[in-house]
Order: sequence, then structure tokens, then C-alpha cells
Amino acid sequence: MTEFIPPFPTRHKKSLGPLDIVKYASRDLLSIWPESAFDRQFMATRIINRSIFIANCPEVVRHVLVTNHANYEKKSPLMRKAFEPLLGDGLFISDGKTWQNRRAMEEPFFSEEQVAQYTEIMIKTAGEYVQNWSMLKSGSTLDVMPEMLKLSSEIICRTLFGNQMNIEQITQLSENMADYRAAVGKMDLSAFFGLPSWISGGKKNQTATIANNIHLIIDKVIAEGITSENKDSLLAHFLTLQKSENTLTLQQIRNELIVLFMAGQETTANTLAWGWYLISQCPEVEQRLHQEVDGLTGDSGSLSYNDFSGLTYTRAIIDETIRLYPPVPLLTREAGAADVIRNRHIPIGSIMLVSPWLLHRHKLYWDKPDHFIPERFLADAPVPVDEFAYIPFSTGPRACLAKFFGTVETTLCLAILARHFRLTLPAGHEVTHECRLTLRPKGNLPMQIMTRRHYSRPD
Ligand code: HEM
Repeated sequence: MTEFIPPFPTRHKKSLGPLDIVKYASRDLLSIWPESAFDRQFMATRIINRSIFIANCPEVVRHVLVTNHANYEKKSPLMRKAFEPLLGDGLFISDGKTWQNRRAMEEPFFSEEQVAQYTEIMIKTAGEYVQNWSMLKSGSTLDVMPEMLKLSSEIICRTLFGNQMNIEQITQLSENMADYRAAVGKMDLSAFFGLPSWISGGKKNQTATIANNIHLIIDKVIAEGITSENKDSLLAHFLTLQKSENTLTLQQIRNELIVLFMAGQETTANTLAWGWYLISQCPEVEQRLHQEVDGLTGDSGSLSYNDFSGLTYTRAIIDETIRLYPPVPLLTREAGAADVIRNRHIPIGSIMLVSPWLLHRHKLYWDKPDHFIPERFLADAPVPVDEFAYIPFSTGPRACLAKFFGTVETTLCLAILARHFRLTLPAGHEVTHECRLTLRPKGNLPMQIMTRRHYSRPD
């Protein structure tokens, strides 16, 4: 087992006051926490007239996200405001009946059976990256963060649109999405804490323009209807539902497609990028990964969904990566009605935070919480993982719609690429994080690529 402790922001000796929280959070949402946040179970603060509570133990997480989920179903007001120009009434920010109907409609799209079919896309796309990377000179530098973003964008776009969207459109969509994230970036702080909009600055016009660019790209693909290029895609599923049940407008279909692109692109890319970094720092983990992936038979192209269940160590690396660096490190909810938690009155309209970042490194629920130890996720691990202390995909009715999809995608992509290549960190390069809405390695994460096994083009 490794003794490697990857970097994390300095923890304050004492809790910050409200003004300091705002100051630190405007630079980095992970830098606000005091040491005590990693062993306290329930916390409360007040920022500008708004009560903020932090559910920080399995029992309260379960209460908020499962047992009393209906009361905490709503995202925080500014989170909704930040994404409304882009997502309209899309699943990610809707609530009440709209959310319930959409969720029920889309859940079957991500059943195990459906995901098994999408693995063909994942395997084919990762195989293309094996081919591309094999053209690079061993020892050359690869910008891993943008490369993983490209890979995940292609996988999600092929899942959503089949082959209907060409690479230029995918690139345009990704670039606009990155711009949108940057534009709402400054709003994150207010979005998370439910602060008034003047704190976030006047980014509204900018978000509206970028949202419009994204709408135009998606509308064009929708207007082409069901074709031989997209007949198995999610777009085709939505259009078929629309015809048979008349439940969705074309604009609502667009909203849902953008939600799925947004939610499915950066999360998986961040996971893979962090994974490569962590593996590169731990020779024994890398060796065990190589043993597992070298046991796969056939070329990358001939792998299938059935190979996923055998990739237990690769999967454990992914599980541990998103424990240490959860792509969505903070979940925010607004209390729909007053509540009582641990004898504390929770007023209506309070902001309830659940933070995978804190829970995943909590001293009461993890042994060596800051160490990178994939073995803790293996079936024979001495201590079982508490399901409400490990919530990279959130939990309860509003948990990630595509938890299984994301797990299969990241595991297979890592296995396919690690069979052929090693990525090493250049000497002296320090990796640090960037935390806005999601948590990713800062910058491009340049790494050196080494060939392990030559790619042989299938006949
Ligand atoms: C490692 C990969 C992923 C992680 C860690 C992740 C994590 C999460 C988390 C934490 C949430 C809850 C957010 C909140 O409550 O504020 C969420 C929601 C969601 N995710 Fe994922 N996700 C991943 C991949 C994906 C993929 C690949 C897709 C789509 C194909 C997707 C689609 C969604 C959707 C639609 C929601 C909103 C669900 C709702 O509000 O009912 N996610 N995800």
C-alpha cells in the first residue's frame, strides 16, 4: 500500500469569519476550510442574512439527500440563476414536477443494459486515442487535461448524437462550454452560498451570448432529426419519445441534451486527469494496474462490456481518485421548509451544503484520509466504506443520473490507454488544483508519454 499523500490546500487553524470566507472562496472554494471541518459532523454559519449549514456526517447526509430529500431537492438560488440561460428547465437545475418527470423519463436511458451498449462507443473512442498517441514520440509531452477533455467530449457527443456531430462541432461545443463555465466561474461563490447577485459581478450578458452559441449548435443537430447516423443515440430516444408521447418540446430536448453534455464531459475528464497524475506518483499502484490491464486479451478494439467486471483494480483506482479529488466537491441545496437537524432549527430558505471534499477526507470515517490507497475499495479491504461518507456521485433520488455510465467510462478508458502507455510527470513539476464548479488539476497537466506496448492496427 502506498504512503503517498497528494497535495491539498492548507487547512486553517481556526474557522474563518464570514468576510474571510468570501475572500478565500472567491479564489478557491477548497481553501476556506479549517482543520476542524475534517472532524466535525454538523456545522452552521451565517453569511449576509443567509443561514448556511454543512451536513458533514453519514447520518445527516442521509437525512438531507435521502430521507428528507424532498425538502432539499432545490438547488441553491444562484446556482439555478447561473445555469438558467444555458439549461432552461433542464434536469440539472429543475425541481418539483418538472424534475420528477424528466428524471423518470431519462433514468431508463442510463440502465445497465443501455450502458452496456454505450461501452462500444467508449471502447472505440479510447481505441482511437491509442492510435493517435502511438504516433507521438516516446518521451514527448502531452497536455493531459485538454486531452482527457477531448476524449470525454467525443464519448459523450457520440452517445448523445451518434455520428451526426462532426469533430469541428464537438470542438466548438466544448470551447463554448468552457467559456460558459469561465463566465459563471465568478458566480460560483455566490451560487454555492446563496449570496446576493451583486457579489458575483455582472456576467449575465456574457452567459446569455455563450448560451445562445451553444443552443445554435444543438438546435442544428436536432433539426436534422433521426438519421442513419444517429438512430441509436440519446437524441433519437428523445425524439422518439416526443413523437409517441408528445411530452417534450424541441427546446426541452435541447435543454436535456446540454445538461447531459455539461454533466458528462468535465467530470469524467477531471477523474481521468487526476487518475493519471496519482498513478504516476505511485510505482506499486502503476505496476498492479499494468498487471491487470495486460491480462486483457485481444486488441483494444475487441474489448467489450464484459471486460469491465474483471477490471477491479483499475476501478479501485478510479474510486480512490474521486474520493481524493471529487469532480463535484460541493453540493448545495435550499431548504424548502423549516426542519430540525441535531436539535438545531433549520429555517426555510437556508442553504444546506454537503461536501464530498470534506466527507471523503473526514478523520472519523477514513483511515489515513489524505493518502492515496486504491486498495481500500477492493472487496477484501479490512474496513468497509460507509456509503454516506463516500458520495462522489451524490446519493439519494437526485444522485448522478449516469453514475454507472461514468464509472464504466473512466475505468475502461484508463484500462485501454494504460495497456499501451505510461504517463510520467516531468521532474520538478508541481501539480495543484483549481476549484470552481468542478475540481480539476490546475493548468494543462503536461506529462511525458512512454510507450509500453505497441499498437497494432487490427486487420
Ligand atoms: C466520474 C464521473 C461523474 C461524477 C463524479 C458525477 C457526479 C455527479 C454529482 C455529484 C451530481 C449531483 C450534483 C448536485 O447535486 O449538485 C451529478 C448529477 C448529474 N450527473 Fe453526474 N457525474 C459524473 C458523470 C456523469 C455523466 C457521464 C453524465 C451523463 C452522461 C452525468 C449526468 C448527470 C446528470 C444529468 C445529473 C443531474 C441529476 C439530477 O439532478 O437529477 N454525470 N453528477
